Amino acid sequence: MLSIIVAVARNGVIGDKNALLWHISEDMRFFRRTTSGHPVIMGRKTYESLGRPLPNRQNVVISRTTQEIEGCTVVGSLEQAIALFPAEEEVFIIGGAQIYALALEVADRFYLTRVEHDYQGDTSFPAWDESKWRLLSREEFELGEKYPYPFAFELYERIKE
Ligand SMILES: NC(=O)c1ccc[n+]([C@@H]2O[C@H](COP(=O)([O-])OP(=O)(O)OC[C@H]3O[C@@H](n4cnc5c(N)ncnc54)[C@H](OP(=O)(O)O)[C@@H]3O)[C@@H](O)[C@H]2O)c1
Repeated sequence: MLSIIVAVARNGVIGDKNALLWHISEDMRFFRRTTSGHPVIMGRKTYESLGRPLPNRQNVVISRTTQEIEGCTVVGSLEQAIALFPAEEEVFIIGGAQIYALALEVADRFYLTRVEHDYQGDTSFPAWDESKWRLLSREEFELGEKYPYPFAFELYERIKE
């Protein structure tokens, strides 16, 4: 099973200068809890922004230019990344925008953190067709422990045609 996980600002922005624009402790914990023990697949730029493999997860990096990264499995396409795992295993696509654009066509689940604030950034989540996804759950926060704006955790599944 292929799952997308992402945090998106109200105006669609997900990052700037290869970094995140906000720090929401609840979202960091949600990401860690949800993906721990599962493989994570990411683009080469997102790997560079993390700077190291995420612990307790098999890290797969997609790149056309890089062959080897210590502690990671490097592959040349999303298809090759998906093919590494049995279909029943939940595998997470963790970004960035280029890889989300490919994964939106094939993912089964979509964990979306809606950050209810606008940010200026150079990278946005690709347009996605909400009519193809069914909302399974939504948990709202008026603000975080240390974050001053509202946000919500949503989980969608793809509607089977
Ligand atoms: N808000 C969030 O939840 C979230 C999550 C993740 C990332 N982000 C942000 O997103 C930004 C990075 O996103 P991005 O779109 O610039 O980069 P990206 O998707 O992380 O990585 C792009 C790279 O992936 C490789 N790639 C892309 N398509 C490929 C294909 N079809 N076949 C083989 N390789 C392919 C290429 O690597 P090579 O150049 O090596 O060939 C490309 O340069 C950062 O600002 C980051 O902070 C935000």
